[in-house]
Amino acid sequence: FHVDWDLITAEKAGYDHFMLKEIYEQPKAYRDTMMGRIAEDGRSIQLSELGMTQEQVKEIRRIHIVACGTAYHAGLVGKSVIEQLARIPVETDVASEYRYRNPIITPDTLVIVVSQSGETADTLAALREARRCGARVLAITNVVGSSVAREADAVLTTWAGPEIAVASTKAYSSQLIAFYLVGLYLAQELGTRDEAAIAEVASALLALPEQVESLLAQADALKAIAEKLARHNSLFFIGRGLDFAVAQEGSLKLKEISYIHSEAYPAGELKHGTLALIEEGTPAIALVTQEELAEKTLSNIKEMKARGAHVLAVTNESNLQEVAKSVDEQFAIPNTLPILTPALSVVPLQLVAYYASLALGHDVDKPRNLAKSVTVE
Ligand code: G6P
Repeated sequence: FHVDWDLITAEKAGYDHFMLKEIYEQPKAYRDTMMGRIAEDGRSIQLSELGMTQEQVKEIRRIHIVACGTAYHAGLVGKSVIEQLARIPVETDVASEYRYRNPIITPDTLVIVVSQSGETADTLAALREARRCGARVLAITNVVGSSVAREADAVLTTWAGPEIAVASTKAYSSQLIAFYLVGLYLAQELGTRDEAAIAEVASALLALPEQVESLLAQADALKAIAEKLARHNSLFFIGRGLDFAVAQEGSLKLKEISYIHSEAYPAGELKHGTLALIEEGTPAIALVTQEELAEKTLSNIKEMKARGAHVLAVTNESNLQEVAKSVDEQFAIPNTLPILTPALSVVPLQLVAYYASLALGHDVDKPRNLAKSVTVE
């Protein structure tokens, strides 16, 4: 009698790849990252981890978010979230740029470094530079006791659990949750949002895990879409505001594991150059989740379609009917507050990337030329 005990297969817990397993772990990652940080009555945010008194929060004049890769894309969402909720000016930088551009870092700057592994060389160097200049550094990381966690002044752990696939999924989306909590906490301490407004966002946050589950149940529809996209060698992602931030992450995910060239573009900027690349059949994925901007993005979609583009829209249920009139295919995410849509809209983009890579027969979990953690410059 002989039992073949394959540890890797066991760790994949029935999923074909770690990436798919990690995509499906997002509802749990959201719940775990929120746990204990939203008060039981849902009316306040508890982030003692930040180690800041209300007075110290009031002294913050600017925030710098610094990270690499997918974590940088989470930081782009973070900028918008913190500025909207707490009205503090935020800049988001790629760590390898930040460390060499002589940024203006003063003691009233809060620097937030974001790193799944907590070991990325450029991010760690940026953290050290920020501390040398006297700024307070908050680390958002997924690895307790990592270098970034040890050297920062304060740590906000994302409880996504170990991420094995090189392409980050649940770590990115948990970083979004961390930014919502930070934005709400700063708003609460500064009084830029009252208790009712905090409670409204908190309750919508708590609804996200179930909403992600409903998205995951529609994976088959995304598989069919991805298999068609995989026949093309180039495509575009477009969006405005938070949708543009998510478009950049969707484009990166696709490039990393399917090797299909893609570009993310702010929808309003297309006409200033990129439209020249649109020809009959060029595929595009348009994110249309921001009610206030939907009409504008729809007019950009029409410009693309007039040149032959084939457009898939990712939009919210409430917009679906209107958007469907202007696109070739659509995929709906559940309704939520506009500020929270990234935590939902990224999920179909992750699945599209996954299924495109699979259709092309690539090594989903270990894409060529890439490493999970880059500890050298
Ligand atoms: C590598 C990985 C990316 C990741 C980036 C930053 O390039 O391949 O997926 O986003 O590093 O990693 P970190 O651990 O700092 O979030």
